[in-house]
Amino acid sequence: MDNLFIATVLLKGDEMQIKKYSLTVFGCQMNERDAETLRGFLDEMGYEETAAAGDADLVILNTCAVREKAEQKVFGHIGRLGLLKQKKPNMLIAVCGCMVQQKAVAEKIRKRYPFVNLVFGTYNLAAFPELLKQAQERGETVVSLLAQAGGIEEELPVSRQDNYRAWVNITYGCNNFCSYCIVPYVRGRERSRKSADIIREVKGLSDRGFIEITLLGQNVNSYGKDLPGETDFAGLLARIDKETGIKRIRFTTSHPRDFTEKLIRTIAEGENICEHVHLPVQAGSNRILKLMNRGYTREHYLDLAAMLRSYIPGCSITTDIIVGFPGETDEDFADTLDLVDKVSFDAAFTFMYSRRPGTPAAEMQDQIPLELKKERFRKLVNLQNSHSLRHNQALLGKTVEVLVEGPSKTNPAVWTGKTRTNRTVNFTGENIRKGILLPVQIIDAKTWSLTGRTGFGQRNADD
Ligand code: SAH
Ligand code: SF4
Ligand code: F3S
Repeated sequence: MDNLFIATVLLKGDEMQIKKYSLTVFGCQMNERDAETLRGFLDEMGYEETAAAGDADLVILNTCAVREKAEQKVFGHIGRLGLLKQKKPNMLIAVCGCMVQQKAVAEKIRKRYPFVNLVFGTYNLAAFPELLKQAQERGETVVSLLAQAGGIEEELPVSRQDNYRAWVNITYGCNNFCSYCIVPYVRGRERSRKSADIIREVKGLSDRGFIEITLLGQNVNSYGKDLPGETDFAGLLARIDKETGIKRIRFTTSHPRDFTEKLIRTIAEGENICEHVHLPVQAGSNRILKLMNRGYTREHYLDLAAMLRSYIPGCSITTDIIVGFPGETDEDFADTLDLVDKVSFDAAFTFMYSRRPGTPAAEMQDQIPLELKKERFRKLVNLQNSHSLRHNQALLGKTVEVLVEGPSKTNPAVWTGKTRTNRTVNFTGENIRKGILLPVQIIDAKTWSLTGRTGFGQRNADD
């Protein structure tokens, strides 16, 4: 590491100028968390972060492959960086993450965008400092992809952007192979971290004043299955709740197939486990669920949702839904709308099916035309919006606990934060700062957010 630090500072000769990097993250929380490790390495190397790629000596894109649009965005970005590099020929460009873990994509970048200095996949994050050094030294693109993930490295650096909430990995990879999904191919087989390591990390965060953690895995419910003698996910949650002192425990993503009654009880009984479950259903038709290889039926999902609502008062259930999966008929889609009505989700992320080369669904007959996907998408969004609004309106006049995230991006005069059920609340009040928990009274409800006020009930001298 020392060598690298010297390399960084001395590269510009006698100027001793601090080097700057910009880092753009696409995709899910896994990528956000990986980016924190990259930042950790860059801190150790003496780099400083800048928001503007134009000011940077090193530009990094951490990419996502889950839908075609995500990939197109990255190619657009790389193209623009090429133009920037014509003006700043010494700028280094690195592209990493899920998209480039696909060999064909890494190869395409090397051929079509030769100005990219470094391409590396998801399995060799730990080698980043060494790879960066090679890229600095070589005139051609350094491409480094490992065929398989190695063991879990516990000692990698991390630089978190907040000091009150944190992502905590509990599993890496995915074994589910849903027929539409690229993730198992770019993130490898499921590997769990040891519970002792996870608990130590959360305890450390709590001791340093962190309020909230989100446990991360593509399927958190299968936590521990690959480690003989290890606790299961419900056991892990219960221990974090009792042993770490952290005030808000979140987790994502849950898979309906192995979401157990024991887990629902654990959430219900846990003092600090947030009353929110993100439980992607993907489709409401049993025929499509089977083709998707999801491993559960709509009836099973409806039972789980009912159990969650009855065991955990006020529990928020959110989901992911795909429309236009190959072969989806009007009847199949009607089943999805019906399930959305029956469960009445608090919120949903809705996606149009995107064909991912190399996955089984990409080869299926009856790919749905874009126009039909768009029409179904609109219908689904409209229906879901009415449910989201109804759930939010039910909170009017109530007081909820909000974790303050800072001034709102759209209106700096207003604060923003999240309830335990993960709803966004925009509010005003005095003596507020980022990272504190506050009671907020809800005075208005919209589809995507709530409006609130603090300080209610406090009496002034002249009241
Ligand atoms: N592991 C998580 C989700 C990871 S991907 C889970 O199983 O729920 C996030 C979401 O992207 C998925 O839930 C799915 O709804 C969506 N998605 C994945 N592949 C997709 C594809 N090929 N086209 C459209 N949406 C997709
Ligand atoms: Fe993809 Fe399915 Fe794994 Fe989620 S569970 S990451 S949707 S394969
Ligand atoms: Fe995308 Fe990779 Fe996440 S494909 S959704 S960034 S695991």
